[in-house]
Amino acid sequence: MYVQNTVDWTANYNESEIPPFTLPELLRTVDGREITDSAQWEANRPALLQTFRDVMYGRRLPRPDKVEYTLLSEKKDAIDGLAVRREIELKFSMNDGRSHKAVMLLYIPAAASGPVPVFTGLTFIGNHVVSDEEDIRMTGHAGALLNSFTRVRGVQTRRFPLAEIMKRNFALAVCSYHDFFPDHIGGWYQSIFRIFMTPEELAEHKNATAIGAWAWGISRMLDCLETLPEIDADKAAVFGHSRLGKTSLWCGAEDTRFKLVCVNDSGCGGAAPDRRLFGETLYTMCRNPAGYGNYWFTHTMKDVALTPEKLPVDQHQLIALTAPRSIAVHSATEDLWADPKGEYLSTWSAGPVFKLYGKKPLESESQPAPDTPVGTDVSYFLRTGKHDLLLSDWQCYMDAFDHTIGRTPAV
Ligand code: GCU
Repeated sequence: MYVQNTVDWTANYNESEIPPFTLPELLRTVDGREITDSAQWEANRPALLQTFRDVMYGRRLPRPDKVEYTLLSEKKDAIDGLAVRREIELKFSMNDGRSHKAVMLLYIPAAASGPVPVFTGLTFIGNHVVSDEEDIRMTGHAGALLNSFTRVRGVQTRRFPLAEIMKRNFALAVCSYHDFFPDHIGGWYQSIFRIFMTPEELAEHKNATAIGAWAWGISRMLDCLETLPEIDADKAAVFGHSRLGKTSLWCGAEDTRFKLVCVNDSGCGGAAPDRRLFGETLYTMCRNPAGYGNYWFTHTMKDVALTPEKLPVDQHQLIALTAPRSIAVHSATEDLWADPKGEYLSTWSAGPVFKLYGKKPLESESQPAPDTPVGTDVSYFLRTGKHDLLLSDWQCYMDAFDHTIGRTPAV
């Protein structure tokens, strides 16, 4: 049987070696009472959310004292005339004069005849990797410190099928994740936390996490989107891939304005169960040379990482915090590091809470075959291939979004 290796952190990829585990009971309050209806689940929800804050994702920052939105550019015929493209500066200020900025890139379908639903999320690197258009501002410079920045445009266009998204009549809003927290262990001093915390608190960064900052940033993007008449901000989805998939899951738990939560290849600390020791584990994440465990998650998580069976929660409960809204969880066949089977297990195990609300959980305990999307209110898709976010993922997310808002697909 696999034992977490404290010397060379070798991952386990053998199903038969996984130590037996039991997930915490879903329909149970944090103080041990049985939950039998949605009202009881709602009453317990704040305590469950707080447990996830304390153990894994850190505290929720408030809104800043003041926000200002400045239109930096508008192009009416972007993507061969399919989109109106805007760049909007989001400025967050505190009464003591501290401020912080991010730049949001927004595509609105040019053919829209009224306000449109919107996908909201973050990009790795910067806004200029989403598209190869020459006139998009380069953002995310704060990530340059650890080489997670490039000036090459369009390097992640495969992850953003803009034309298809526009044709299906959804808007898309993105910011660089580095704009909220530069993704490296010293990112604190250039992160959004610097306007809320004292230098001493920043040095200690107790109960604060990069994932928390990223999730907060997506909520602030939605605040801005709510002010735009072209956007139907009551119909917003949050999406994210990989570490940003962990982020979208957390953002959807914290911010119930998002009606659909799209979680892609989120793996450990995302949709994969903490207790299932397959691929990356909380412990291996903490030992990662890039130090992810030191700033993506709380210090508390580092303390408990070696003994996940002692955690008060597991990730199926985080997925359940989405209910009664919709969730779409995706995996990829070759992405074993993220434990695709485990991602399915958590999603299936969250089902009883969706059921309390009359929503449809996943039907089968067994993971579906590759490239066969399953589910509606709770959906799952296992794409053939590597750790990535591709058009076939987006097609399922767009189907899930149309289902969520009761709209017939535009194409
Ligand atoms: C690493 C990390 C994962 C993470 C991934 C990513 O592989 O171990 O937890 O999801 O990076 O964000 O690309």
